[in-house]
Amino acid sequence: MFYGMKHWILWLSICHISYMSGEMLCSSELLIHSNITAELQSDVLLPCNFHPTLLGSDKTADIAVVWTQKNTTTHSLLEISLQGDVRFWDYKGGRIKTFPKLSESGNFSILVQKVQLYDLSLYRCELFNGFNCSIAYQEIHLIRQTGVNILEEKWLFIAVGGGAGVLALLAAVVCFVKRTRFNASNERIYANSRFERRNDKQHSEEKHSSNQHAPKAKMKVHASKPRNHSNIYANNQVEAVEIYANQTH
Ligand SMILES: *[C@@H]1O[C@H](CO)[C@@H](O)[C@H](O)[C@H]1NC(C)=O
Ligand SMILES: *[C@@H]1O[C@H](CO)[C@@H](O)[C@H](O)[C@H]1NC(C)=O
Ligand SMILES: *[C@@H]1O[C@H](CO)[C@@H](O)[C@H](O)[C@H]1NC(C)=O
Ligand SMILES: *[C@@H]1O[C@H](CO)[C@@H](O)[C@H](O)[C@H]1NC(C)=O
Repeated sequence: MFYGMKHWILWLSICHISYMSGEMLCSSELLIHSNITAELQSDVLLPCNFHPTLLGSDKTADIAVVWTQKNTTTHSLLEISLQGDVRFWDYKGGRIKTFPKLSESGNFSILVQKVQLYDLSLYRCELFNGFNCSIAYQEIHLIRQTGVNILEEKWLFIAVGGGAGVLALLAAVVCFVKRTRFNASNERIYANSRFERRNDKQHSEEKHSSNQHAPKAKMKVHASKPRNHSNIYANNQVEAVEIYANQTH
């Protein structure tokens, strides 16, 4: 899509220029500067397309595109004629692939295979009419792919990982809430059991005391006194624990 848009802009600019200046003027105009990224050892297409109006109607005309690479100095790489003849000056050990059949349609793109470090620089494809007349040119900056896709992958990774992280966090939160609730209910159960245990104790005391015969009534009165106290005490504690449990919640 990015490519498509670039080409669309390219065609637009070419049309604009060709309408402005007419055909085949030696204006040597820069039409487009694009950045192309490539990973080392990968194959990369260096696009170079000229609108047919720039090529003229004469299919036998001496029109050709010259590819140069500029790093510290300018190196001529190859020439592709409108008729599809290719002449190499530097073929990078056979790593440059051309598409001569496409040149008559204005496509002078080249493919650089197994990109090396020294390939990364500025390229120019220049359309010539005859020997001296430069009609137009385009520049392509071949840049090593350091981040874009890797970054995208990282983002994807982060997004996926983040999703998993959020899920894990959610699970942890749910787990924590459940645990605190469990603890709270445990405390309540514990408090209740304590309460009940005391009650049981009191009941057994009551039973025990009721089993005694002689001072039954007196003992009962006596026994009922601390029982009530302990009951109040037990209730207080239960409430305190329950309040505490609710507070931590
Ligand atoms: C190409 O990259 C250079 C920096 O390396 C930047 O300044 C320029 O704007 C880029 N051009 C395009 C067309 O993306
Ligand atoms: C030019 O030719 C190359 C190689 O076949 C192709 O990948 C590219 O899409 C062509 N460009 C246009 C604008 O047709
Ligand atoms: C510049 O590019 C040419 C042509 O590909 C290459 O032979 C040369 O080694 C490069 N020089 C540097 C310094 O990268
Ligand atoms: C190209 O231009 C140079 C001067 O820049 C001139 O001497 C030469 O004769 C021209 N060649 C052709 C084929 O027009």
